[in-house]
Amino acid sequence: MKKIFIYYSFTGNGDIVSSYLKRIGFDTYKIITYEELPKNRFLSILVGGYKAMINYKDKIDRVDIDLNKYGKIIIGSPIWNSKLSSPINSLLDKIDLTSKNVTFVLYSGSGKENKATELLKRKYNAEVINLKEPKSNNDELIKLDNL
Ligand SMILES: Cc1cc2nc3c(=O)[nH]c(=O)nc-3n(C[C@H](O)[C@H](O)[C@H](O)COP(=O)(O)O)c2cc1C
Repeated sequence: MKKIFIYYSFTGNGDIVSSYLKRIGFDTYKIITYEELPKNRFLSILVGGYKAMINYKDKIDRVDIDLNKYGKIIIGSPIWNSKLSSPINSLLDKIDLTSKNVTFVLYSGSGKENKATELLKRKYNAEVINLKEPKSNNDELIKLDNL
């Protein structure tokens, strides 16, 4: 069964997840936005936090993937303001996950994002795996071994 990890990453945690999953046989696809958050950390939290709060959908490149090729789809998002990141809001708006086997991987500072987890479980009937800053906590990645 072919599997794909489709994700966004602003500060590299999602990229670490992507490399790990690539090594265990996943195809990977990174969402590219037309506009990045500001480089300044404080401003990035402010802008990204606001975008997440209003469920903003960033302008992203065309998602050129034939999802029918995959038996399992993993979607990776950083948590912004306790919600999904705005680039992943756009992705979810563009792709049809009906009757697909979907798992979400959420990476965050806390590693415990109950609100976002419950919403995704309900809306997509999906498994949700929470990781705490995998870039600096490599042992978090073993949570992905059963994917
Ligand atoms: C705009 C913004 C908002 C964030 N909000 C939260 C939050 O509400 N809760 C949390 O635990 N971490 C929060 N974080 C931390 C990120 O979720 C965390 O660093 C994540 O691993 C980043 O993934 P990335 O490096 O792939 O972009 C926030 C980070 C940013 C940039």
